[in-house]
Amino acid sequence: MVKYLVLIIGVCFLQAVGAKEKMISSEELKLHGTSASCWILIEKTVYDVTEYIGVHDSLRYDIRKWCGTDSTMAYSKKDQSGKAHSKKADLLLKKFKIGLYQPD
Ligand code: HEM
Repeated sequence: MVKYLVLIIGVCFLQAVGAKEKMISSEELKLHGTSASCWILIEKTVYDVTEYIGVHDSLRYDIRKWCGTDSTMAYSKKDQSGKAHSKKADLLLKKFKIGLYQPD
């Protein structure tokens, strides 16, 4: 019985610790507006896509201009092409998540 109680408390503790997201302000986002450090905001999440810039270049589209900005519309419409990114792209994007956006 005690074992189960310890297990439940342990799981709750880990969830509470793991649930802590890094909150990122608009100022901090803007500080990462170059290819040396490229953060983008999509919906409410901030992603560090610095290491992905070169890979995206090979898709014949340069994403550098979106570094440090709210790229929600750009990402959802592939800039002006109007097409959405694939599910594969959405899954890949998740790997670059670094925190949540803290609106001003
Ligand atoms: C920041 C704004 C972004 C814009 C405006 C943008 C735009 C584009 C464009 C124009 C293409 C090529 C044309 C096409 O395949 O239809 C493309 C393809 C692609 N992009 Fe992006 N992209 C952005 C960010 C990203 C990010 C952050 C990722 C992933 C981390 C990503 C992943 C992909 C992938 C995997 C493709 C291949 C086609 C697909 O799977 O949809 N893109 N993107």
